[in-house]
Amino acid sequence: MHTTVLALTALAVTVVALNVQIPLAPPSGAPSITPSLLSFSIEQDRWTDWVGSTSRNQFFFNTLDNLKQLSGSPPQIRIGANSEDHTNFNSGAVFAQAVFPPPTATVPYPEATNITVGDTYYETARFLPPGTHVTWGVNLGQNNITAAVLEAQSIRNAFASSAVKDAGIVLDFVEIGNEPDLYRNNGLRSNTYNVTQYTQDWIRFAKNVSVAAGITTSSHTKFLGASFAGSSHGAGFSPQAIFAAGILDSQPGSLITTISQHRYSGSFCTGSEGLLQDLMSKDTIRGNLTVFAPDIQAVRAKGLDYVLGETNSYSCHGAPGVSNTAGAALWTLDYALFAPQIGISRVFFHEGIGFKYNLIQPATLTRSTLDASPLPAPLPPHIQPQYYAAIIAAEAIGSSGATRATELVVNDALVAGYAFYEGNSLKRAVFINEKAFTRSSANRTSVTIDLNFTSGGSAPRLMTVKRLQIGHADDTAGLTWGGQTYETDSGRVSGRLSVETTSTRDGLVLQDTEAVLMTFN
Ligand SMILES: *[C@@H]1O[C@H](CO)[C@@H](O)[C@H](O)[C@H]1NC(C)=O
Ligand SMILES: *[C@@H]1O[C@H](CO)[C@@H](O)[C@H](O)[C@H]1NC(C)=O
Ligand SMILES: *[C@@H]1O[C@H](CO)[C@@H](O)[C@H](O)[C@H]1NC(C)=O
Ligand SMILES: *[C@@H]1O[C@H](CO)[C@@H](O)[C@H](O)[C@H]1NC(C)=O
Ligand SMILES: *[C@@H]1O[C@H](CO)[C@@H](O)[C@H](O)[C@H]1NC(C)=O
Ligand SMILES: *[C@@H]1O[C@H](CO)[C@@H](O)[C@H](O)[C@H]1NC(C)=O
Ligand SMILES: *[C@@H]1O[C@H](CO)[C@@H](O)[C@H](O)[C@H]1NC(C)=O
Repeated sequence: MHTTVLALTALAVTVVALNVQIPLAPPSGAPSITPSLLSFSIEQDRWTDWVGSTSRNQFFFNTLDNLKQLSGSPPQIRIGANSEDHTNFNSGAVFAQAVFPPPTATVPYPEATNITVGDTYYETARFLPPGTHVTWGVNLGQNNITAAVLEAQSIRNAFASSAVKDAGIVLDFVEIGNEPDLYRNNGLRSNTYNVTQYTQDWIRFAKNVSVAAGITTSSHTKFLGASFAGSSHGAGFSPQAIFAAGILDSQPGSLITTISQHRYSGSFCTGSEGLLQDLMSKDTIRGNLTVFAPDIQAVRAKGLDYVLGETNSYSCHGAPGVSNTAGAALWTLDYALFAPQIGISRVFFHEGIGFKYNLIQPATLTRSTLDASPLPAPLPPHIQPQYYAAIIAAEAIGSSGATRATELVVNDALVAGYAFYEGNSLKRAVFINEKAFTRSSANRTSVTIDLNFTSGGSAPRLMTVKRLQIGHADDTAGLTWGGQTYETDSGRVSGRLSVETTSTRDGLVLQDTEAVLMTFN
């Protein structure tokens, strides 16, 4: 009798077992992972709503500082994007004056069309966490070299101020123009604007901007190149094409040390469950990143670094019910961890006040991010589900400053795994089950992961397991990480930490729509 019951129970919970080999030492190709792998790109029209104007925005600061406490370095911050090419400088302007188009249901928080900034605007960089590395964009789109020069001069002064310098906040890069490959479509240039003309424009601007910003062969600050919206290999706008057009051979072009490209997985202005499972897929994540493989190879062949300077899920600032959900957190985690496996050093997730795909909402909102309808009550600053991906990535990388990671072969189209090493030893692993369990799914299934430690050394006997618990993939709140929440008024973690300590021989049961961090003792 007893035996029968056990057998039935076993049948009901039958799960797929995945045998995963984990090398005890890093494979030779395992890339180093920067502590600021998951960084942020901020739409610059409302920059002071992020960082603070006359005093620090403590909520934003806390959300960045949480990451610094885990990985040892704060995320890098790139400020610019669409509004970068609509910004002019006026020494009389206090912070920023911006003109916004009216909100629409698909774009409840549109970018400003005309921004005027003064010195006080750039000086607010001092409110960032100490040690933050910054990239700032100047205007190429409006073809007004005076505007770009005045901005660059003001940026230089801000980063030379003692408030910024004493905090160890440094300007790594100046970017000249955002997504110039789209200028021919968005009216910023003629509809025949091509990569040769762009390269000439960039060199002309960069001559003056380098002088104004103090960028030289010996300065810390350098140029971030390209910042293209997409990749069209060959004759279109691509790193290869600007190299062929001679950008690196020019005097200011020799000051480009990193190439940036941008990526969104698609353009959907309304969400659906199908769309969520599309996003939560190893295949589509790898497909969206490996499109850059030839570009990365060409960039690295020139001895330059390569980053995704702006990225997120879907355009229209995110698809409602998809980009703002717990499922998007799992997408973010796999996307960020996969990027360095193909030579992308850092991934800047794009954020704007009220955008649906934000990790962080640092300002009080009064209209819905999903359809612009007025909210019944003002919504105070808060984190969104994707923020947990930043936390998990930072925790997996850890604060060693010398972490390497390798993707693990997991024989399942929806389960991704990564191992993390410090020096020569295996320290941690992350597994992500991307099968979408939504509010309309019938059953939540799971997989069992059997760990098979390989390549010599003695296998760890015990591990602690920390879980990202998600009610449903389409939930927009209520996630917990090791039993704790970041959905607090301060953005600081709250609640009692809860982890399991188990034998590595027992493997691990991973539910649909769940991520775990294993720490090996
Ligand atoms: C942008 O705003 C500034 C300051 O308010 C104004 O002087 C300028 O004319 C505006 N530009 C455009 C193109 O509207
Ligand atoms: C750009 O640099 C050139 C050469 O030094 C100078 O003549 C010109 O005035 C500068 N333009 C601006 C807008 O600063
Ligand atoms: C270019 O920018 C400068 C500096 O703000 C401004 O004085 C000038 O009017 C602008 N030129 C045009 C054509 O908009
Ligand atoms: C871009 O256009 C210019 C001017 O029409 C032309 O000389 C140049 O060859 C074009 N470059 C490319 C890559 O098509
Ligand atoms: C990018 O991801 C989307 C789903 O988010 C998918 O529909 C699309 O096919 C992917 N693109 C590539 C090139 O893999
Ligand atoms: C859900 O689980 C129940 C009980 O195990 C089973 O009878 C049913 O067929 C499952 N439904 C689906 C859609 O898998
Ligand atoms: C572990 O992997 C090795 C190498 O593929 C294989 O020979 C062995 O059977 C695996 N061990 C277990 C317990 O699955």
